[in-house]
Amino acid sequence: MSKRRFALDHKAITLSVKVEMFVKTQVVIVGGGPSGLLLSQLLHMRGIDSVVLERRTKDYVLGRIRAGVLERGLTDLLREAGVADRMDREGFPHHGTLISYGDEMFRINFSEHTGHMVTVYGQTEVTRDLYEARERSCGALLFNVDHVVIQDADSDAPHVTYEIAGVSHRIDCDFIAGCDGFHGVSRATIPYRVRSEYEKVYPFGWLGVLSETPPVNDELIYATSPAGFALCSMRNSNLSRYYIQCSVDEDAANWSDDAFWAELKRRIPAAQADALVTGPSIEKSIAPLRSFVTEPMQWGRLFLCGDAAHIVPPTGAKGLNTAASDVHYLYHGLRQFYETGISDGIDAYSHKALARVWKAERFSWWFSSLLHRYPDQTAFDIKMQIAELEFLRSSPAAQKAMAENYVGLPY
Ligand code: APR
Ligand code: PHB
Repeated sequence: MSKRRFALDHKAITLSVKVEMFVKTQVVIVGGGPSGLLLSQLLHMRGIDSVVLERRTKDYVLGRIRAGVLERGLTDLLREAGVADRMDREGFPHHGTLISYGDEMFRINFSEHTGHMVTVYGQTEVTRDLYEARERSCGALLFNVDHVVIQDADSDAPHVTYEIAGVSHRIDCDFIAGCDGFHGVSRATIPYRVRSEYEKVYPFGWLGVLSETPPVNDELIYATSPAGFALCSMRNSNLSRYYIQCSVDEDAANWSDDAFWAELKRRIPAAQADALVTGPSIEKSIAPLRSFVTEPMQWGRLFLCGDAAHIVPPTGAKGLNTAASDVHYLYHGLRQFYETGISDGIDAYSHKALARVWKAERFSWWFSSLLHRYPDQTAFDIKMQIAELEFLRSSPAAQKAMAENYVGLPY
């Protein structure tokens, strides 16, 4: 047998043996994004076993460009999970943000109003740190998993079936965490008759560019102008992330770098436009904006976390941060169950998670409504936006309310 053939067979056997090792576990986690990985790592720290079933490859998951603002609750959770060392070294503490309209600009001081800050650190890096931690502890992570079906979630003996390389497998478990995002299978496992869905699709998208250039400012700039919304963000001192509002039917390929930079400059104050360092885009994509919530977030022994249950427009950077509070509630509920046999925490999971989800939805909707230009806006509507911005600029109470939501409401 050739060496290559042996290696392939060995890998297949290893995978097969590996997969067959998982015929029973305590918690099956569907989805190996940040929600699923964070839950798996937290459970592991308490000796609770889980198996993560991920549809894609690890590289595919890590290839997704995501936002980069972490609330205090998430950074605390990452420290509790033992995965915060690189974030603490490489993340940037941000004590405020700038909001501009035309050439006017003012700052919201998070620390002054709340005593807290946010951390700028790419969510992709969070996911990378979580993968490394799970692999260090030989976590059960299965990739290229197809046809996941959640069975008997409303019984005391749920199980999950799935395929890898065309071979069917079954895992019996105590609980299932649906962390498989908006397009996953978990939400649809909850019968339609018991589900209520709430959705708002925004009439615009965000065209985002990543460039190896120094950020235009050391804090984020949320900008609005007659031409629409723009956001100046960053990943590090030589990696900037910029967004401009665009129509939903646009194609990123139709936007040259020069056209993007020119439009961005139109939407930020002149001083920042003059200071902007432009360069070739290393990533350019358009994201649609949606608000979405499904209720309840649990059914029997199935619990939905993160994007599987809710979506927010990225304006308030609440996507991963709201997934984190879901994970917090579910982790503590499962810990209580396994350590004491008491099920109060898991019984109340959906109620507790949704209470915070809806507040994040409200803030994301409010901040989006404040800063974007809507196709059907009247002159009066625009006057209301300007009045709201002027009120926010002049009122410590309004700024405190904005800051409380931005740094993250308590869990
Ligand atoms: N079977 C297995 N895995 C699946 C399935 C399936 N049927 N469907 C989807 N997945 C995987 C996806 O490939 C993805 O890796 O589930 C994962 C879901 O990850 P996310 O979509 O990132 O959702 P979540 O982990 O909840 O992250 C929440 O984090 O990335 C940020 O801002 C982003 O709002 C998002 C937040
Ligand atoms: C980002 O850096 O990608 C980012 C930051 C803040 C947001 C959205 C995206 O509100």
